[in-house]
Amino acid sequence: MSQDGAENERRKIPLEQPLYDRVDPEFFTRLVDHFYDAVLVDPVLAPLYPPEDLDGARERLRLFLTQFWGGPQTYSDQRGHPRLRMRHAPFVIGEVQREAWFRLMANAVGAEVEAGALSEQDEAAMLGYFDHSARFMMNVEQ
Ligand code: HEM
Repeated sequence: MSQDGAENERRKIPLEQPLYDRVDPEFFTRLVDHFYDAVLVDPVLAPLYPPEDLDGARERLRLFLTQFWGGPQTYSDQRGHPRLRMRHAPFVIGEVQREAWFRLMANAVGAEVEAGALSEQDEAAMLGYFDHSARFMMNVEQ
């Protein structure tokens, strides 16, 4: 038996390949740009976002999603622990905002599937995650 426990674990546990490894290098940039272009003309969401720092907002979401789906940890290097519920506390997020956010993100994900850049299996995983996390971000009842 190997004395290297970590090596042993690597052999025993079949590690699932992260989604990040299955998509092309521009995937998260396109996804977030598609999403934000729609946010900025959305009557519910547009007023919530900082007009003076929209490029920064795009970059924060791009880095977070890249990290979450198995890419480089640049988001945490720059921003620390995500603590997303806390970071969303300044914004009123009820059912109307959740629905709008999820719909626009689902459209952006769907466009990647249509372009052949994301499989339907990975689409389902992303939508499940966004549905769950968008509910988690809600902080008011409407
Ligand atoms: C449910 C509806 C949601 C609304 C209305 C909303 C709104 C916002 C707003 C207004 C910001 C500030 C923009 C900025 O300056 O960065 C923000 C930031 C952010 N949001 Fe959301 N958001 C929602 C859900 C989500 C979800 C589901 C995720 C993740 C899956 C997410 C991830 C982020 C991230 C990573 C940031 C930047 C945090 C930071 O480092 O400061 N948001 N969101």
